[in-house]
Amino acid sequence: MASIMPLTADDIDAICEIDDGEMPAPLEALMAKPAFAGLGLSLGPSTETKLAGFIYGWVFDGQGEIVQITIAKENRRQGHGRTLLTSFLADFDLQQCWLEVRADNDPAISLYQSIGFVEDGQRKGYYQPSSNDLADTSAILMQWNGKASVKN
Ligand SMILES: CC(C)(COP(=O)(O)OP(=O)(O)OC[C@H]1O[C@@H](n2cnc3c(N)ncnc32)[C@H](O)[C@@H]1OP(=O)(O)O)[C@@H](O)C(=O)NCCC(=O)NCCS
Repeated sequence: MASIMPLTADDIDAICEIDDGEMPAPLEALMAKPAFAGLGLSLGPSTETKLAGFIYGWVFDGQGEIVQITIAKENRRQGHGRTLLTSFLADFDLQQCWLEVRADNDPAISLYQSIGFVEDGQRKGYYQPSSNDLADTSAILMQWNGKASVKN
């Protein structure tokens, strides 16, 4: 069974585990900021649920920005990313939301498009090149304006 709850500092170790041990930002400090908004998705029986994914970003007065969404590798392609993203938009009463995504991240772009995010510009060479020199390091900026239908 999946349950959604606010992200707190208690989740940081589990977040690092899901994110291959990497912490892209000083998350504990970010969590203390008033505009921080984060949700975790837990799976398993109620007595032993385990964090299986998370989403966080900023929310202010109906506008939001998603900084990161990740689902644990073993739990992908089961609808949890879509559940977290639609929960973020609904739970924080967003009318508009923005994000940026690597141009070569097809799964994430497909997820965002499936709930109505549309491209709103590009930043060329924004990300660090990975070991794959041919990868597109551009960032695609995407916007959701609250009018598109959200598929659950
Ligand atoms: C992107 C991510 C969050 C998607 O989570 P998920 O739980 O696997 O996604 P869902 O099962 O909810 O899929 C929803 C939609 O996303 C798209 N999608 C997800 N994974 C996909 C894949 N591997 N290939 C193509 N489309 C994919 C599909 O449109 C899918 O809808 P469908 O199942 O009806 O075809 C997950 O792949 C992830 O954690 N990736 C690593 C972190 C990352 O890149 N985050 C985004 C940073 S901007």
